[in-house]
Amino acid sequence: MNIVVLSGAGISAESGINTFRDSNGLWEGHDVMSVASPQGFSKDPALVLDFYNQRRKQLNEVSPNKAHKALAELELKYTVHIITQNVDDLHERAGSTNVTHLHGELFKARSIHNEHEIYEWKKDLNLGDVNKHNHQLRPHIVWFGEAVPKMDEAIELVHKAAIVIVVGTSMQVYPAAGLLQYAKHKTPIYFVDPKPAIDSSDRITVFAEKATTGIPKAIELIEKL
Ligand code: APR
Repeated sequence: MNIVVLSGAGISAESGINTFRDSNGLWEGHDVMSVASPQGFSKDPALVLDFYNQRRKQLNEVSPNKAHKALAELELKYTVHIITQNVDDLHERAGSTNVTHLHGELFKARSIHNEHEIYEWKKDLNLGDVNKHNHQLRPHIVWFGEAVPKMDEAIELVHKAAIVIVVGTSMQVYPAAGLLQYAKHKTPIYFVDPKPAIDSSDRITVFAEKATTGIPKAIELIEKL
């Protein structure tokens, strides 16, 4: 059976990474547009690079939680593909092997002139860090207003899914939030979030709770199918 998981910031909350919309529209004290848009980067590149340096540092200090691990273990029994809006690597560190990052990855950098020139980047990224063409590097993050290159791949995966699990997302950011509409008409959906953005119905089972308790419950139900 082919299971697709759509995850958002909430799955990493219990690992110690703050979500975006649980903190008054501020992201670690910053207006989101000033640190996560091409305009913000043009205006103050040093501030934006420093912001992501802090995020990278924090990511080096946290670990996957029980929800990431339970989803990784699902691979022992099922074909599992994770589509995450998160830029952290906690799904991979928990052991998941098929992870699509819709919004980029914190531990990668890319040329400001070529989105296909991508480098592994675990340390600080500063002004003056350039590639061999002398082009400045920027975080490999999809900022507001930028295209989401992995969207077609994600649509295809959701369309083929026999089961969809959604966890820890406010479903407010498009195009990611529109992905569920590509699931086949009868595909069961398990939705885990303490403040769920959708209601239960005959095909949607909602667990209004945290990821570390809700994901094991969703998996228990799936195993009985
Ligand atoms: N377990 C599960 N869900 C949780 C937990 C938890 N312990 N704590 C909070 N949540 C839920 C919240 O109830 C909320 O619905 O996680 C969700 C977080 O929502 P957002 O902060 O909006 O995160 P997300 O949906 O991933 O945001 C999408 O917005 O700024 C962008 O690019 C960024 O990828 C991000 C996108």
